[in-house]
Amino acid sequence: MTKTKTPRATENRNPQISTRERIVLALDVDDDREALAIVAELKDSVGLFKVGHQLFTAYGPDIVRRIIGMGGRVFLDLKYHDIPNTVAKASAEAVKLGVSIFNVHALGGLDMMKASVEATNEAAHARNLPVPLMLAVTILTSMDEANLRKELKITRSLKREVSHLARLAQRAGMHGVVASPQEISMLRKAVRGQFVILTPGVRPAWATKDDQKRIMTPNEAVAAGADYLVVGRPVLKAQDRKAAVEKIVEEINQSKSI
Ligand code: C5P
Repeated sequence: MTKTKTPRATENRNPQISTRERIVLALDVDDDREALAIVAELKDSVGLFKVGHQLFTAYGPDIVRRIIGMGGRVFLDLKYHDIPNTVAKASAEAVKLGVSIFNVHALGGLDMMKASVEATNEAAHARNLPVPLMLAVTILTSMDEANLRKELKITRSLKREVSHLARLAQRAGMHGVVASPQEISMLRKAVRGQFVILTPGVRPAWATKDDQKRIMTPNEAVAAGADYLVVGRPVLKAQDRKAAVEKIVEEINQSKSI
């Protein structure tokens, strides 16, 4: 019997990006002028800007075009979850919009994720555009095991379900997953080859926790095997936002976890 090799925690991480490029700033603000002012200030400091439901619902694809027009890269966090045909078409639109990362719900199933991957690749190749990073959300971190069991009738453990959905996403051709800091090490063992992990819920030791509960510092998350870190309030609420980003970058570099 051949023994399968267990990957080291960080072996299948995307190695080609700098610390700065790993930082995704969540543009969780309600005003487009404020969002664009932050982009102008930090576009050379962080890797990407996360546009979520709030900003997208208020200002539409135009806000994404404007950020990209200013030289910012965008993670479109709309978590597509619909029938395969609809998600495929939305994915193609995300490519045309020029986003660098977008995501879908793994609970949409294998066919839905495969349709998204296929449509993304086709749209990118047809227009000679880069293929965005396609990530899957496994189980929302707002759900716990009791919710899974009682409401969704999913009886296996949360960890096993998250690992299963990550493997399903990988089988569909997705590039990676969105995962909480606590899931990183487990996922690094559950998936094979290069697989991207993007992690929210990180807090530098010097920042307040806000409403985040199970947090890790950015360096701990990178050491555990995260490729990208989503940071919002520690930077958005800082007196000097640029300095806050620099401090995070420095802390990760000093921890030599990359
Ligand atoms: O301000 P903060 O750093 O907590 O922002 C984190 C961002 O990541 C928010 O946009 C939040 O919606 C998102 N997020 C999260 N936890 C998850 C999934 C997404 O905090 N499990």
